[in-house]
Amino acid sequence: MSTDVDNPFFARLWTALSGHETEAMRRLRKENLSGLRGRVLEVGAGTGTNFAHYPPTVTEVIAVEPERRLAAHSRDAAAHAPVPVTVTTDRVEQFSAAEPFDAIVCSLVLCSVDDVDGVVRQLFSMLRPGGELRYLEHIAGTGARAALQRFADATLWPRMLGNCHTHRNTEAAITAAGFEVDDARREWMLPAWAPLPVAEVALGRAVRPAG
Ligand SMILES: C[S@@+](CC[C@H](N)C(=O)[O-])C[C@H]1O[C@@H](n2cnc3c(N)ncnc32)[C@H](O)[C@@H]1O
Repeated sequence: MSTDVDNPFFARLWTALSGHETEAMRRLRKENLSGLRGRVLEVGAGTGTNFAHYPPTVTEVIAVEPERRLAAHSRDAAAHAPVPVTVTTDRVEQFSAAEPFDAIVCSLVLCSVDDVDGVVRQLFSMLRPGGELRYLEHIAGTGARAALQRFADATLWPRMLGNCHTHRNTEAAITAAGFEVDDARREWMLPAWAPLPVAEVALGRAVRPAG
C-alpha cells in the first residue's frame, strides 16, 4: 500500500468545500476538540481545517494526511495554528509512534479508510489507557436516507469523494474495538431535508478504558 496519495480531483474539490464551511460545521469542529490536552494524533487532516480550533492545553498535534496536495495545505494551516502541529504524508495504517497518544481526533475520515474496523482497532492500540478518541463522522442513517446512502456508496460517490462511504456503522466499529463511548449525539451538518447522503454526523467521545 502506498503512503502518498495522488488524487488531484478530490484534492481540488475538498480544498474548495473545506474553505466554505458553515458556521454550524465550525461549531461542531470546535466542540469535537474542546477540552483536549496533551499529545494528539489527527487522522486524515485534509486542509488542516481543525487546526485553528485546538485548545491551548494541547501540547503537540501529529497530523497524518496522505494526499500530497491536501498535506501541503495542512502544512500552511499548521504554520498558523495556536498549538504545535506536525504534518506527515502517511496513511494512518502505515503510521506508528514511539509513545502512545493522549487523544486521537477523527473528523470526516473514518468513512474514507478501506478497513474501518482495522483502523479503529489500530487507533485503540495507539492511545494510552484512559486516552480518548474524538470523532465527528458521517454515519449510516435509516429509512429513505439509508437507501440513498447505499445507492451513493455503490455508484460514483466514493470514486468522486476520496473513497467516502456514507452508509458506515462507524460507532459500532468504535465499540467493537473496545472503546467506551461516554458522550455521543447526532447532528445535522446540512439541513435535514437536504437530499444528500452526508447530511447527518455523529459527534462523540470514546475512551480506551484505563484498566
Ligand atoms: C473528507 S476529508 C476530511 C478531512 C479533515 N479530516 C476534515 O475534517 O476536514 C478525508 C481525509 O481523509 C484522508 N484519508 C483517507 N484515507 C486515509 C487514510 N487511510 N489515512 C489517513 N488519511 C486518510 C483523505 O486524504 C482526506 O484528506
